Amino acid sequence: MTPSPDRSRGPNLSVSFAGIQLKNPVIAASGTFGYGVEFEDVVHLNKLGGFVVKGLSKEPMAGNPPPRLYETAAGMLNAIGLQNIGARAFIDEKLPRLRQLKDIVVIANVFGYTREDYESTIQILNESEGIAAYELNVSCPNTGSGGIQFGCDPRALDEVVATARHISQRPLIVKLSPNVTSIAQMARVAEEAGADAISLVNTFLAMAVDAETRKPRISNVTAGLSGPAIKPIALRMVYDASKAVKIPVIGMGGISAAVDIIEFMLAGATAVQIGTASYWDPCATEKIVDELQEWCVEHKIDRISSLTGGMLLD
Ligand SMILES: Cc1cc2nc3c(=O)[nH]c(=O)nc-3n(C[C@H](O)[C@H](O)[C@H](O)COP(=O)(O)O)c2cc1C
Repeated sequence: MTPSPDRSRGPNLSVSFAGIQLKNPVIAASGTFGYGVEFEDVVHLNKLGGFVVKGLSKEPMAGNPPPRLYETAAGMLNAIGLQNIGARAFIDEKLPRLRQLKDIVVIANVFGYTREDYESTIQILNESEGIAAYELNVSCPNTGSGGIQFGCDPRALDEVVATARHISQRPLIVKLSPNVTSIAQMARVAEEAGADAISLVNTFLAMAVDAETRKPRISNVTAGLSGPAIKPIALRMVYDASKAVKIPVIGMGGISAAVDIIEFMLAGATAVQIGTASYWDPCATEKIVDELQEWCVEHKIDRISSLTGGMLLD
């Protein structure tokens, strides 16, 4: 007879991927959570599974001119332009504080415009303690290949992931662009090039126009769409990608409640990330962890990791 689970201790929310143990599957997404330290006063960082810092490049970047954000029906457009302080300043100014905080998991998001950019940024970050993994943002135009995004071209994706794999001294998560025809193909390319996990989705290319002024709502004209508006497409992509690869999948896109996390896990995600929800409520990530705990108690889920890929098809 199987012993009945001990529910007095509450559900086990822990998950693990690429050798990283998280106390729960909730990770704050890159670009929506600063460098973590900025959220220290509003969120108990050690209640989260982890957080991904703003995308880091080799050199600091100023980003695009305003307007860079625009709220849409059930979503948000952004064209921040990957503004960041640069990998070296992150190590000198942000990481020492993060290292003092106990029981947190910090993931560094990395991007570049050439393969060498990725290589140099990872090399700088490799030198420092306190980073659990790298998340490679492949959604920027590859200037070496005439501007096509790394994440939209299988050959460019293969090259950049293989380069990062070679140089990285940490687990490598490859964050896929959803602006492709076959997410399954891109997931397989990332896996074969050496990714330890994949995360998806990044934002969808989109735009908005002001009919009165006849001008674009965003100075860059096109922007990335995120938030609840993209959730059903993100869910489908997580499902497709998780069927295509053996490595773990981290799902995101429009998560704003605990039940959304359950849906992503049933579709195949091992863990999830939450982005735009933090713009509407800076405490969203922590609140959703509490909500998730309650959801599991109510639904008698003893071990949340058992839900991954558990969608029933009949
Ligand atoms: C303002 C903003 C900035 C972002 N910056 C980054 C970034 O620097 N690197 C990255 O990989 N993704 C970035 N993203 C994408 C998010 O991490 C996430 O993939 C996307 O927003 C979908 O999740 P969500 O619907 O929960 O926001 C950004 C998103 C937003 C809204």
